[in-house]
Amino acid sequence: MAGKVLVVESDVSVQRLLQHTLQQEGYEALLVADGADALRTWQQEKPILILLGTGLSGMDGHEVAARIRAAEGAAGHVPIIMLTADRDVQAKVRALRAGADDFLVKPFHPAELSARMKSLIARFAPTDISSRPPMGRVHAYYGAKGGVGTTTIAINTAIALHGLGRRVCLVDGNLQFGDHRVFLDLGLDRKSIVDVLSAPSIDVDLLRSLVVTHDSGVDLLLAPPSPESADLVSSAHLHRILETLASMYDYVIVDIDKRLEDRNLMVLDIADTIFAVMTADLSCIKNVRLVLDTIGHLGYEQSKLKLVLNRSNAFTGINVKSAEGALKRPVEFQIVNEYRGAISALNTGEPFMGQKADSVLGRSVMDFAKAVDRQVGQAIGLVASGPGR
Ligand SMILES: Nc1ncnc2c1ncn2[C@@H]1O[C@H](COP(=O)(O)OP(=O)(O)O)[C@@H](O)[C@H]1O
Ligand SMILES: [Mg+2]
Repeated sequence: MAGKVLVVESDVSVQRLLQHTLQQEGYEALLVADGADALRTWQQEKPILILLGTGLSGMDGHEVAARIRAAEGAAGHVPIIMLTADRDVQAKVRALRAGADDFLVKPFHPAELSARMKSLIARFAPTDISSRPPMGRVHAYYGAKGGVGTTTIAINTAIALHGLGRRVCLVDGNLQFGDHRVFLDLGLDRKSIVDVLSAPSIDVDLLRSLVVTHDSGVDLLLAPPSPESADLVSSAHLHRILETLASMYDYVIVDIDKRLEDRNLMVLDIADTIFAVMTADLSCIKNVRLVLDTIGHLGYEQSKLKLVLNRSNAFTGINVKSAEGALKRPVEFQIVNEYRGAISALNTGEPFMGQKADSVLGRSVMDFAKAVDRQVGQAIGLVASGPGR
């Protein structure tokens, strides 16, 4: 059993639907219809999460959330998702002000509910997670060509892995023109990798103070705010940074571009796995070939590199089979093409793995993240091999 979830909802049909969804996911649903019962059940049963309707008779959902927050103090924090019929921004602000952690407008898709619940449960269960040692995997996301979607995939995979309960740090390794601030709507005032230069040594405490925690729960080590400071960060600095982050996180995801210069080569070297992101076009295939040759010359195992074909179902005139034929190796992962979803996430600064996790693109990246996590789990003996979760 994944744990008890308290459902506070006056509408019996919504109650039933939630109960069904929760049971499917392995949770025990505790159903109550009003605020007073909600507070009592919360105190007695200690649920791992609360789904809180707003249209309750008597004590309203907002008041329930506010009372819980006041009562629990600093000692604990039960995640609360507020369910409302009202999609306007005021309703969202009211819910968050009352103490909710997240917000869903009815009707919603069960998959979205489930993804958000998992993300919150993982976020607010630090003692559980931190009681085991970090997995410490360094994953390089290498763009075989600019514009193939490396940053898009690195960011959304990081969020998906966090949603699966992993501790994740995302490093913008594109030090000159890194665009994580744009993708994630963060200002130039946020700390960055360049701040390591003024510190006496690069250690866990320093990196803890430099990472920026994104709303999704993923920690970010950003690229410098201006390109000219990028060159001050050497490959030796970056090596020490990645090594230290690996001692703190399950996954250290490094987003790098195609150049095979010192720093990128160091990242490829230190990485446990290189995900070469490509699209099915000739110049990309040519670049992937060069990287495969380089990897061969450097003496790495060929299995260290995995091919990720992005926009796999877009028409390019080259299908997956012929790309595999030209590269003489399989494409391990494919991510679907959905230009609108990808570009609107970029323009709004809200990754699709948040609000749009249930979109075609969101599901495609989630499947990819699950497959990656499963492979790692098997490699380090966390999960038994066999069919996936
Ligand atoms: N799976 C996808 N389907 C459609 N468009 C995508 C997809 N992945 C990325 N894009 C779009 O491609 C463009 C380049 O993406 P980006 O992640 O910046 O690439 P890179 O980091 O490789 O330069 C962006 O406009 C992005 O929205
Ligand atoms: Mg990029």
